[in-house]
Amino acid sequence: MTPHNHAKPGDYAESVLLPGDPLRAKWVAETFLADAKLVNSVRNCLGYTGTWNGKRVSVQATGMGQPSLSIYVHELINTYGVKNLIRIGTCGGLNADVKVRDLIIAQGATTDSAIVRDAFPGFNFAPLADYGLLRSSVEKAEAAKLRYHVGNIFSSDIFYHIEPGLEGYGRLPAHGILGVEMEAAALYTLAARFGVKALAICTMTDCLITHAELSAADRQSSLKDMVALALDVAVAG
Ligand code: HPA
Repeated sequence: MTPHNHAKPGDYAESVLLPGDPLRAKWVAETFLADAKLVNSVRNCLGYTGTWNGKRVSVQATGMGQPSLSIYVHELINTYGVKNLIRIGTCGGLNADVKVRDLIIAQGATTDSAIVRDAFPGFNFAPLADYGLLRSSVEKAEAAKLRYHVGNIFSSDIFYHIEPGLEGYGRLPAHGILGVEMEAAALYTLAARFGVKALAICTMTDCLITHAELSAADRQSSLKDMVALALDVAVAG
């Protein structure tokens, strides 16, 4: 038990999917998992454990942004012994080759967040995905014929920039950054700190270059592809 999580020791599986939205955690549990049981509902930040293809797996919401994610992830690792953490999120597009509905498998996560910067005075740490989870997700995305990109994303602390449009992203798009979300860099940094494995997979839902947006119907089916992929990766190890 922690101030943010009333699950008991052993309530979480070794592998946990991490959506931001609590209702997405509920949807994943109800749509994909067999025998799903609610293990946490403190602050309505829902967590469930069930099985996928007969193997135990959990899903826990993190809330939005790196401070919120860091609380849940720190406790999943240090209180509940979680070993594999796979973020399933959405992101904005910062590269014209990435189309709405495409998956971005985040090899690295650049950030403006003090949560990462201030942990390494004098250095610029490079938050990276676990290579085994990354390779497994690429192989499975390939086999399922999903459209995907592998590369660097931007985990921002800011959704509403002061500058209009792409201006708030400075030189990042010109340095190969594929998309923007708000959680992966802190996840990768905590995984590195505590010696566990992490990966972030994002569906690109709104392109900041073309202003294309995913329709409501496509959003549901593309999220299904992403969740099935993440569950396959989660139980493979
Ligand atoms: N910015 C930050 N996070 C996001 C976005 C965005 O445009 N779209 C989906 N998650």
